[in-house]
Amino acid sequence: MSSNTFYLQDVLTADQFHKTDLQLMLTVTKKMKKLVETKGGSDLLKGKLMTALFYEPSSRTFASFISAMQRLGGGFIPLQGVSYSSVAKGETLPDTVRTFGCYSDVVVLRHPEVGSAKIAAEFCEKPIINAGDGVGEHPSQALLDFFTISEHFGGVDGLTITMVGDLLNGRTIHSLSKLLSQYKNVTFNFVSPEILRLPSNLIKTFSDRGVKVTQSETLEEVLPRTDVLYVTRVQKERFTDLDLYEKLKYHYIITPQLLRQAKKTAVVMHPLPRVGEITPEVDLDPRAIYITEQMTNGMYVRMALLSLVLLKDYV
Ligand code: NCD
Repeated sequence: MSSNTFYLQDVLTADQFHKTDLQLMLTVTKKMKKLVETKGGSDLLKGKLMTALFYEPSSRTFASFISAMQRLGGGFIPLQGVSYSSVAKGETLPDTVRTFGCYSDVVVLRHPEVGSAKIAAEFCEKPIINAGDGVGEHPSQALLDFFTISEHFGGVDGLTITMVGDLLNGRTIHSLSKLLSQYKNVTFNFVSPEILRLPSNLIKTFSDRGVKVTQSETLEEVLPRTDVLYVTRVQKERFTDLDLYEKLKYHYIITPQLLRQAKKTAVVMHPLPRVGEITPEVDLDPRAIYITEQMTNGMYVRMALLSLVLLKDYV
């Protein structure tokens, strides 16, 4: 029996997960997957309540947290958009999260500002799960991406991971790369237009950890050596200059023709939504796992995360 390091902890950044936490997460997620496949769910979280407080749009993260809770017999308070809550009257984030902390056991928060989850955690007595804080982080997405890669390849050791698109503003990229950088023999290729490069502090952290890193504007050179091609959309909502967004949005388009240069064993991932950067024909390629494995794993991982955060003796 290992001890449950997630119990009643806030989940704010991928930095907080160590290899042992990730191992525990993989084990519990596999159990959840089996549970859903065999029985549909259980009563594990009966009597527990989750608030899903989303100040920004969401389909998958919102729905997978809700379905995770329901599959385990728990309840939820769904706030998808805050226009009908007291936020519309000018209520502050600290007051809002303290309110929902009174009624539920865990608060899942998506908010447009970097650091908002950390502030929420300082005020709310119940655990906060960061479901995206602006251009900051998205740790539960990183867990599901990590699980997906790990399950598909039987581990992450030795993999070459190419991340392409809006690396500056893509919070899923920030969290996933932080998480994977703990594994030294992983290689990162970061491919983006010059002005959408990964923040330099992250590049420095990865180099300090001894991870091999390349940065480039073109995919062609790194694609043939890539195991995981992780594609992201250009994050329109983070641009003040929409002309610039228009110029950049189709900088990379993944097509069946382009994928001819990729390994037969490679996979294509995307946190979704996509808005043109992967053509629909690519969905037919067995290497495309964003709709199949990656999306469904989101629910299993969140079932595991909620159980570990809410139940001390789960493991
Ligand atoms: C991502 C997000 O919200 O950061 N979506 C998600 O949670 N699956 C990616 C994106 O919006 O581009």
